[in-house]
Amino acid sequence: MITFCEERKTFKLDTPSSSYVFGIEDDRYLVHYYYGRRIGNEDLSYLARTEGTRPSERLREKNSFLDFAPMEYPVSGTGDYRPAAFEAQREDGTCSAELYYVNHTIEKGKLKLEGLPATFGSEAECETLTVCLEDPILKLKVFLVYSVFEGLDAVVRSLRVENGSKDSNVYITNIMSTCLDIDNDDYKLLSLHGSWARERNIETRSIAHGTQGVGSIRGESSHQEHPFIALCSNNTTQTTGDVYGFSFVYSGNFTASAHLDQFNKVRVLMGINPYHFRWKLEPGEQFTAPEAVMVYSHEGLGHMTRTFHDLYREHLIRSPYRAKERPILINNWEATYFNFDTEKLLSIAKEASKRGIEMLVMDDGWFGVRNDDNSSLGDWYVNEKKLPGGLKPLVDGVNALGLKFGIWMEPEMVSPDSDLYRAHPDWTISVPGRTPTRSRNQLVLDLTRPEVWEHTWNSVKTVLKSANIEYLKWDMNRQLTDLYSAGLPADRQGELLHRYVLAVYRMQETLVTEFPNLLLENCSGGGARFDPGMLYYSPQIWTSDDTDAIERLKIQEGTALVYPLSCMGAHVSDCPNHTVGRVTPFKTRGHVALAGTFGYELDITKISEGDRDLIPTQVADYHKYGDLVRNGDYYRLASFSENGKFDAWMVQKKDGSEILVTFVKGLNEANTKVRFIKLQGLEPGVSYKDETTGRVYGSEVLMYAGLPMDSLNGDFDSKLVHLLRVD
Ligand code: DGJ
Repeated sequence: MITFCEERKTFKLDTPSSSYVFGIEDDRYLVHYYYGRRIGNEDLSYLARTEGTRPSERLREKNSFLDFAPMEYPVSGTGDYRPAAFEAQREDGTCSAELYYVNHTIEKGKLKLEGLPATFGSEAECETLTVCLEDPILKLKVFLVYSVFEGLDAVVRSLRVENGSKDSNVYITNIMSTCLDIDNDDYKLLSLHGSWARERNIETRSIAHGTQGVGSIRGESSHQEHPFIALCSNNTTQTTGDVYGFSFVYSGNFTASAHLDQFNKVRVLMGINPYHFRWKLEPGEQFTAPEAVMVYSHEGLGHMTRTFHDLYREHLIRSPYRAKERPILINNWEATYFNFDTEKLLSIAKEASKRGIEMLVMDDGWFGVRNDDNSSLGDWYVNEKKLPGGLKPLVDGVNALGLKFGIWMEPEMVSPDSDLYRAHPDWTISVPGRTPTRSRNQLVLDLTRPEVWEHTWNSVKTVLKSANIEYLKWDMNRQLTDLYSAGLPADRQGELLHRYVLAVYRMQETLVTEFPNLLLENCSGGGARFDPGMLYYSPQIWTSDDTDAIERLKIQEGTALVYPLSCMGAHVSDCPNHTVGRVTPFKTRGHVALAGTFGYELDITKISEGDRDLIPTQVADYHKYGDLVRNGDYYRLASFSENGKFDAWMVQKKDGSEILVTFVKGLNEANTKVRFIKLQGLEPGVSYKDETTGRVYGSEVLMYAGLPMDSLNGDFDSKLVHLLRVD
């Protein structure tokens, strides 16, 4: 619920367990009062400690006010020396701004963000507050937009800037999507760091004076750092502690930081990274900043996680597959890499179909003359040496075996060794006169140029229409460098990176509109573009190129901290694992992949008979537990990345009738006793029956004494326990 108190000039956004409060001070400044556990409607302005310091009372110390007050949307250049949320420059080079309150509206429903992914909801589900601020000198209007959702402890923010001047251009040089000024409570900063094949590992650090945080300047959200941070009170656990989670619905450069100031207050900022960002607003033009989501939990990380899961499942992912079962796929990447032909793929499909696998995905290498990763990106026509007669005979053959067919593409890229590049060497993002930096021997197409965008979209469309293709894996295997677009004038070059992201979004929007039943899986060299922005277009994203079950424990734990299990691409692959060389039981690989979309990525014709024979059981498990895993409440019970010994998580059906516990052990140890895993979030006073052993446990016993993890043996063994409520 959103309310405005006319008398006190305060805005209050209430969610089931949190309140977010700010007000208008001195008739003009937006000052933040409170964000935390839900409270009543009393006057909170004293929390800002601005009495007697307001410029109307002490003009000679206006600077102290601006540099101390907890600001709702701070600007730079007029006295607030902390990191700013907004910076703008005039044509004459001046860089100061002041934003004064003008008016506001509170309405039912949720606004769409032009050209950008964003959460959505009906009038019955959401409420939106728009506060209009103005810089009377720059003639800039800033509309701060806040929405809350029925039943969820989330506040989402975005903003729109409009140049109201009749004759002057303004350049936005910094525009954060959210800002939070709060007193430090010995908070720790949690972030998700990584690398290729090691994405989204959880890392926590103390906050020191000055600025600390994460960001990307790579043109995508990146393997290395992730558009998510959380402030956690000291000793936060899964079930206890104050947590403020911040997630950015954007797939390009971002920054997320916490600044501890001289008075021990923390300012959190999240938005587009100002690196190489300078957006020109001509008179009358507007700019919309992407959405940031804030989730508050007073019950530790677990409640934050489940709020993000519900919000993203119900109000961000749009695909018709969102809550539905996905076909169990087998992908040929780790099976064959570039070395395949129709016959090989059909032999995989044949073995797969016998064991209940439902879709064959042909990965990289089917087009141009691509026999390795040095050529042919951009030449999206079939290599008939590998696939004689084109896609149709292959797809028909796969369909005849009862399997669906999916395909891989990397539409944003071009290989210097390609017909496309030879015809249009000027279509890449590159600086005139400088040889562009290659990465994986490829360059990035400048999708901000209409002719390049059209050509690229037509290539994607032509491929998808050429056969019965029901799934697309959209890959992106390099990051952006050599930032220059031949399609932009000099004073708009700072717009390139954001325009690039908008162009990708526009293409994916066109894709899902023209092919509404296509199952789209985004990917970027593994999980470098695993972010809420891409989830708006695809219900699943390839989580990591590391398919080793044990490495995946860390990667999937970090990913599931924010994202629902329904969107984590996870496959059973062959051993020794191609990335880390580890050997794990086939059963364990299945259990870990079951916590995601579930599929296979191996040469089913070559694996051992023993492993092959386990596939029907895994397929049956997926059909049995898939709905629970996709749509249930996720609880993290133990962390292998913290204890180095074992991992455990559970998913509980929303109505509490069913629970699936997954336990995975690290290296085996001699002479150890049974471990008990304590469940979370159960309704008190009810009982559950272990479907396998028939043993009945009270819910308190499961939560406070624990579930025995016995009958495990050998390194990396694992176990599923399915509990059914007995009424
Ligand atoms: C990177 C992806 O993450 C892999 O799964 C695979 O599709 C390769 N690209 C193909 O080049």
